[in-house]
Amino acid sequence: MTAPKDPAQNIAQSPTHLVHLEQRKQSGARLYSPTAGRNKGPIAQALAQHLPPNARVLEIASGTGEHGVAVCAARRDIIWMPSEIDTESRRSITDWASETNGQMHMPLALDMQNPDWPLDGSKTVLKADAIYNANMLHIAPIEAASGLAQGAARVLGEAGMLILYGPFLFAEKSAQSNLDFNERLKARNVLWGVRELELVKDIFAESSLALRETLAMPANNHCLIFTRRS
Ligand SMILES: C[S@@+](CC[C@H](N)C(=O)[O-])C[C@H]1O[C@@H](n2cnc3c(N)ncnc32)[C@H](O)[C@@H]1O
Repeated sequence: MTAPKDPAQNIAQSPTHLVHLEQRKQSGARLYSPTAGRNKGPIAQALAQHLPPNARVLEIASGTGEHGVAVCAARRDIIWMPSEIDTESRRSITDWASETNGQMHMPLALDMQNPDWPLDGSKTVLKADAIYNANMLHIAPIEAASGLAQGAARVLGEAGMLILYGPFLFAEKSAQSNLDFNERLKARNVLWGVRELELVKDIFAESSLALRETLAMPANNHCLIFTRRS
């Protein structure tokens, strides 16, 4: 008799944080995420329409690196600066970056639970026109969201924008699939969970970032576009 499939076998977790919830395929250093394979097209289309000309985009929690490659292909004028806390994923991003003719830089190692990122002593070492983060908020403690907001305020210029992609809860209008996903996440770790839009808005408002646009994406995901509150 075959043993029942253990759902935990799909979880890759470093000693400090969760890396992914699915089985990624691998060829050399290059990783393929089944989810990123499905959502990178719609994400690239949405970002291509909203990023300013010649934008320098900092990606937080780049995972395999596939989103960055897709956005670079859709917008040849931009520079993409990926970042990833996980070493194996950074190797994958470096490999994917070789396809982009220098548009995509080597990945930085940034941890959103370090509230001081990207400070080097008292100096901010990174500047970007846009920050993009997908699918991290629900599989990290809420401090990662606050850390992202605080660092974004240091990295972005006055006209900067921040784009979050992923599942979110919309109070009583939440999609059932996201409510179910929230339950599954919380059963694994009480600190995880699909975040309520109002909570996300409050966290980013504390760093003077205001929600300007909400884009509905496939499979009950959304892109949230924040800009500096004037
Ligand atoms: C589900 S994956 C999403 C990867 C990619 N953005 C995508 O959508 O395909 C979650 C990512 O969050 C990263 N992550 C988890 N905790 C983090 C933290 N504290 N700081 C930065 N990244 C973190 C993981 O390493 C992983 O790359």
